[in-house]
Amino acid sequence: MRDKALITSALPYANGEIHLGHVASTYLPADVTTRYLKMKGVETYFVCASDDYGTPILIQSEREKKTPEEYSAYWNKRDLEDFTALDINFDLFSRTSSKENTEFVQYVFNKLNKAGYIYHKEIIQYYCTNDKKFLPDRYVQGTCPNCNATNQYSDLCERCGSVPEAIKDPKCVLCGQAPVMKPTKHYFFYLKKFAKSLESWLDSNPNLQTDIKKYVKNWIKGGLVDWDITRDITWGVPIPLSNATDKVFYGWFDNHLAYISTTIKLLNEKGIDGKEFWNSADIYHFIGKDIVYHHYLFLPAIRLGIDAEYKLPDYIPTRGHLSLQSKKISKSRNWYIGLRDFLKTYPADYLRFYLLFITPHSQDDLNFDLDDFAARINSELIGNLGNFVNRSLGFTTRTFGGVVPEPNNMDSEDEKARQAIMQISKDMDTHMESHHTDRALKRLMEFSAHFNQYFQHKEPWKDKDAGRSCIFYSVNAVHSISLALYPFIPNAAGRIWRQLGMKQDITSKSWKQISTLPIKPGHKLGDVSPLFKKVDTDDIERQKRRLQEH
Ligand code: MF3
Ligand code: ZN
Repeated sequence: MRDKALITSALPYANGEIHLGHVASTYLPADVTTRYLKMKGVETYFVCASDDYGTPILIQSEREKKTPEEYSAYWNKRDLEDFTALDINFDLFSRTSSKENTEFVQYVFNKLNKAGYIYHKEIIQYYCTNDKKFLPDRYVQGTCPNCNATNQYSDLCERCGSVPEAIKDPKCVLCGQAPVMKPTKHYFFYLKKFAKSLESWLDSNPNLQTDIKKYVKNWIKGGLVDWDITRDITWGVPIPLSNATDKVFYGWFDNHLAYISTTIKLLNEKGIDGKEFWNSADIYHFIGKDIVYHHYLFLPAIRLGIDAEYKLPDYIPTRGHLSLQSKKISKSRNWYIGLRDFLKTYPADYLRFYLLFITPHSQDDLNFDLDDFAARINSELIGNLGNFVNRSLGFTTRTFGGVVPEPNNMDSEDEKARQAIMQISKDMDTHMESHHTDRALKRLMEFSAHFNQYFQHKEPWKDKDAGRSCIFYSVNAVHSISLALYPFIPNAAGRIWRQLGMKQDITSKSWKQISTLPIKPGHKLGDVSPLFKKVDTDDIERQKRRLQEH
């Protein structure tokens, strides 16, 4: 682990609201890791941006009679508001269409071009004679030649997942007319040239998930295909060549470069040399498994193509897809829950806790189930953790006037309690360092369950004097819980912190303080009250009905 880290999470398209499917695999694990590393004393920055370009955004803005600038600016603002409501705390949330990114993308292109990694080739494209436009990607719909599904985009069949060579019965999505075929010149990135260097990068990086590495290497063996990095539309980063003013870059050429340009912008504003920081930090790109190809091949190849002037990622934590009530999430079929909507009913902490609890560090898919959500919150977060915090702080308040007593008559259970406090931060470290955030959280729940049993067994309410050491260790365990919980559910962690009567801000505390006993006899607690409200099952039934009616 280096003493600096830079964290990114996949950039959301500026094209519709953030929903539960987005946050589970990418934003939450990245946010937890950022908070954890900051507590570890690692100088960490978390950057993201809206992904403003691409044909879906252009088409949608045309439909809504807005300029694509206005349209993407709206979603950029809205996304940041929704992330903030979930306590996702970016150091900077920028835009791929920012001036900084535009300049950086053009710089990278020029450098690749000089190095001989770009070539120019004529291709045949759909063209609408009515709209007088080329029709890339999402501009054409038709029938999939593979499975005969109708109304599929020319670049992807959503039913069978194939990327058809030529769609049947093509139609312009703007006017419905059949397009003609017309030649046009495009720029290609020589991905093929990087097969060897990509392979050795994959082999030399021990931090990438092995199963993913394996199939990425199989793709390389199967033969890489050069990337067409330009489009004949007007919305995108302009190509810095005088004979290409009618084209822009393809969205996947410019978007990932915003990881770098956003970092540089943030750090330069802080007076830090951005490039030097990047190259001496651990670089993490958190993604969902649908964009493995782009992040394990295309992105590193482009960085290699500019002499690794900005180093390649150290970690690409990749997670699976979330389904909802065991059905695939689909915006177009209205099977999703918007983040904003969900947070109207439930606190951010509940959603964070549940999603982090069920999301492993693997490509396995996971399922958001409303009944399971209610059960986990009620039994784990509230029944276990909330209960322990409340009973130990509540008992101290009622019996000792909120003043922590001097421990006495230590027995073997007290000694075990002390050891549990000394051990918990290290055990969680092991999981966090290998990106198993779910296991780290579960380890903390075991810690809390252990203390619940300890408290139950020691029965401090029976004999006030004999119970002093139990109270002393329990209150210190609540202190450990508060700090260890902070990366996962920062809001509740802060509330526990205040109930403990701590003077300094929780964000000033470090991870290693989890395994200490800083609450001394005589310490006065703050005001104590129940932390959480149970999830009501009638409410859950209402949520289910709403989802069906959508
Ligand atoms: N907008 C893309 C998607 O949702 C992700 C882009 S991540 C990037 O699939 F870094 F590569 F920009
Ligand atoms: Zn048309």
